[in-house]
Amino acid sequence: MPVTESYDRQVPLVAVVDGNDLNRKQVANALISFYRVVQYSDADQALNGLRKEAPEVALVDDQTPGGGGYHLVRAMRWDRGLATVPVILTSSQDERSVAAMVKGCGANVLLSKPYRRSKLIITVSKLLNRQVEESWAKLPPRPRAALNDTISVFNSISDAIDNGEGVDYRLVNDACTPLVEAIENNEFKSILGGVRDHDNYTFAHSLKIATLLSLFGKIIGLKYHDQLLLAGGGLLHDVGKMTIPHEILNKPGRLLADEFEVMKRHVPATLAVLEVNDSIPKGAIIIAAQHHEKLDGTGYPKGLKGRELNELARMSSIVDVFGALTDRRAYKPPMPAEQALGIMTDQMSAYLDQNLLKMFKSMMLDAVQDV
Ligand SMILES: [Fe+2]
Ligand SMILES: [Fe+2]
Repeated sequence: MPVTESYDRQVPLVAVVDGNDLNRKQVANALISFYRVVQYSDADQALNGLRKEAPEVALVDDQTPGGGGYHLVRAMRWDRGLATVPVILTSSQDERSVAAMVKGCGANVLLSKPYRRSKLIITVSKLLNRQVEESWAKLPPRPRAALNDTISVFNSISDAIDNGEGVDYRLVNDACTPLVEAIENNEFKSILGGVRDHDNYTFAHSLKIATLLSLFGKIIGLKYHDQLLLAGGGLLHDVGKMTIPHEILNKPGRLLADEFEVMKRHVPATLAVLEVNDSIPKGAIIIAAQHHEKLDGTGYPKGLKGRELNELARMSSIVDVFGALTDRRAYKPPMPAEQALGIMTDQMSAYLDQNLLKMFKSMMLDAVQDV
């Protein structure tokens, strides 16, 4: 799919500075599916280029010709436009022997070579997230608390999954409380805006679904307690995606049939995490279990249809489809809300509840643009 200029600007820019052509190209190739990448083989040349367009993250090799990596990072720290750009310094030297140099020049992280591709991507992603999360400090108290509390509970769930533990639903409820309060006070746009550029896709998508699902609940007249349940269920609905390989989860373009089978496993994986504890409310389990089911029975994992799908399942599949269409991914621009709603009405009438969709549509057109 061709990308527009405005979309291009939304994708984070990562600069790769390395005099070794082979290394630099390998690193650039690993990052190109997720980010815009600019390459430099010389430190002086890099400083000029970075001044023209500051990247969101820079990877600098310590052996770069033209003064070396340390010199470049130090120069960046003295430059007003580049002083706060997170820098990953790459080096083949022994970690202990370069630690003082890394700190002294002002780099944020040392990545010792050789490193795995996944480690590179995780390191870049963490630095990007740090920037986005720091920007939340400027938001009003409720949206700020909603973002900070949900990311911290999401990170704790990620640790729990790694350790084979379950989810403590009290923490999810607590984290969703400022979210529902922000919705009550019409401040939810700050949450959607605040999470839009977060680089943890599963978190960004889940918080968006939590927000829109809870807002949907308010619009159809549900009480606070049910709105809170919709927010909690939305936040948890895809946590099993944390177990899906990065390459499949973030694959640019269409998944092959066998890759799609792997992707579908995120539903039982989510349920396995949620069912470790019996404290997870039934409604949240339904949202997780049935958000990919379709009214005509062509959904997954069970192929449920018609009356087998209750209101909660129908609402969550509408919100999830809308979320997926309007999410920004490295390989596709976000679809405008009106276009997504048009497709959902014209092409998905066999499997989305059209009455609920009408309500959702007017809610989105009234309340939210370009989410
Ligand atoms: Fe899902
Ligand atoms: Fe989802």
